[in-house]
Amino acid sequence: MPPGWDGVETTARIWEVDPGLQVVICTAYSDYDWVDLANKLGRTDRLLILKKPFDSIEARQMACALTEKWKLARQASWKLEKLEGMVRERTVELRREIAEHKQAEEEKSKLEERLRQGQKMEAIGTLASGIAHDFNNLLTGILGYSSMLKLLAQPGDDVLEAAEAIGRAATRAAEFTKQILGFARRGKLQNTPVDVHHVIGDVAGILGRTIDKKIGIALSLHAESPVVTGDPSQLQQVVMNLAVNARDAMPTGGEIIFATEAVDLDEEYCRDHPHASPGRYLLVSVTDTGTGIPEEVRHRVFEPFFTTKGPGEGTGMGLAMAYGIVKNHDGFIEVYSEVGRGTTVKVYLPLCGEAIARDEGPRLAAPIPGGGRILVVDDEEVVREVVERMLGCLGYEVACVHNGREAADHYGKHGPDIDLVILDMTMPVMDGGECFRALKGLDPEVKALLSTGHALNGTAQRLLDEGMLGFVQKPYVLAQLSEAVARALGRG
Ligand SMILES: Nc1ncnc2c1ncn2[C@@H]1O[C@H](COP(=O)(O)OP(=O)(O)OP(=O)(O)O)[C@@H](O)[C@H]1O
Ligand SMILES: [Mg+2]
Repeated sequence: MPPGWDGVETTARIWEVDPGLQVVICTAYSDYDWVDLANKLGRTDRLLILKKPFDSIEARQMACALTEKWKLARQASWKLEKLEGMVRERTVELRREIAEHKQAEEEKSKLEERLRQGQKMEAIGTLASGIAHDFNNLLTGILGYSSMLKLLAQPGDDVLEAAEAIGRAATRAAEFTKQILGFARRGKLQNTPVDVHHVIGDVAGILGRTIDKKIGIALSLHAESPVVTGDPSQLQQVVMNLAVNARDAMPTGGEIIFATEAVDLDEEYCRDHPHASPGRYLLVSVTDTGTGIPEEVRHRVFEPFFTTKGPGEGTGMGLAMAYGIVKNHDGFIEVYSEVGRGTTVKVYLPLCGEAIARDEGPRLAAPIPGGGRILVVDDEEVVREVVERMLGCLGYEVACVHNGREAADHYGKHGPDIDLVILDMTMPVMDGGECFRALKGLDPEVKALLSTGHALNGTAQRLLDEGMLGFVQKPYVLAQLSEAVARALGRG
C-alpha cells in the first residue's frame, strides 16, 4: 500500500482507474464500520472484507468466485457493446431502405405521370389526325379550284387576284394542318437520309438574318456523321420551332446554342426514360439563356395549343409538333429548364450512319399538261369534283367513283382504256390498299397513284413497295397533281 493510504483509500484510487476490478480487503480489525465503508466507496458489489485470520481454502474459493464474476461481467459488457453495434448498423440499413423505398415510390409516380401524359397525347393525336384528314379533303377542294381559277383567269383580272388570295389563305391553312398532322404522328412525308448539320446550318442561317442582334447564335456540332433517316423539311421544322421558342424566351437578348453529339443509350438509361429504347442516337440540343420554364407548366409544354403567350401571339403548336415529328422519326424529346437561367431542349434521333450529299430541296414547276384516261377513286365529293376538273384542265379524260368496290367494277369493265387510277387511302367499304390489290388481281400491270391527306406512313410505304407508282399529298395544287400524274405515266 502506498505510504499514507490505507486499504479503503487505495481501493477508491484503483476504482478511479479500473471501476470493474473486484477488491478483497483483508484485515484483522477495522477503523471503518460498514456504513463508513459505504459512504467512502459507495454501495458496491465489487468489494469484500475478509477478516483475518482467514482460512486459505476460504480465500481461494472467494478468489475463484470473484474471478468468475469479473469474467462474466466482462462478457456481458462485450455482448452489450456488440448488441448496440448491431442495433446501430440495422438502424442505418433501415434508414437506407426507407430512403430507397421512398425513391422507388417517387419514380413510380413519375412513370405513371409520364404514362398518363403519353396516353393523353395519343388521344389528342388521334383526334387531331381525324380533324386534319377531313380538313385536308376540304383544302384539296379550295386549293385545287383556286389554282384552276388562276390558270383560267386573264392577267390583270380581279378574279386572278381573288384566286391568288384564296390560294394563299388555303396554303396557310394547309401548313397548319401539316403541323397538326406532324403532331398527330401519322407518318413522315419523306424517308430519306438527312444530314442534321445541314438542317441546323439552314435554321441558324435564317435566324442570323432575321432575329434581333442582341441574340447570339453559337454552333457546337460534334457528331461525326450526323445522318438520320426521315423527312428533311419536318426535321427543319423541329429545329426551327425550338429555335423560335429560344428566341422568344430572350426578349432582352442572350445566346442560342445548337449542339450535336452521338450518344449510346443503354438499358439502364432506358429504364429511367421509358419512352427511349436502347441504341445509338444523334442528340441535338437547342439551349437558350432565357427566362426558363416554371416547374408548374413544364409538364404541359408539349400539349397542343398550350401557350403562355398572349392571345394572338402563340399557337401553342410549336413543341407539340416537334414532339410528334420526333416521335415519328422513332426518337424522343426532353426539356431541361431552370427559371431565370435558361432552357435546353434535347432531341434524340436514331442515327443511320450514312454520309450524304446536300439535298437541294423540292421545286414547284408549272402545271404539266397531259392526255389519257384517269379513274379517280375518293369517297369525298369535293375531292372527286375538284380532281376531275383539275385533270380535265390538264387535258385528261376522267371518270370518278366513290369507293374501292365501285373502282373494281369500273376497272373490270373499262380496264384496257384506263391509263391511271388515282386512289384515296382512307375510304369506307374497301380502303386504298385493298382496292389496289383488287385492281392488281384484274390487271397486274395496273398503274395507280396514291392520294392521301396522311403522310407517308407504314401503310402507304407498303403500297408503294407493292407497286403503286407514286404518292401525292393532299391538299395539292394543280402543278403538284400534274407532276405526280405525269411521273406515274412515265412522262414527268
Ligand atoms: N425555350 C423556352 N424557354 C421558355 N419557355 C418555353 C421555351 N420553349 C417553350 N416554352 C414554353 O412552352 C410553351 C409552348 O411552346 P410552343 O412552341 O408549343 O408554343 P408557343 O411558342 O407558345 O406558340 P408558337 O410556337 O405558335 O409561337 C410556350 O408558350 C412557353 O411557355
Ligand atoms: Mg413556339
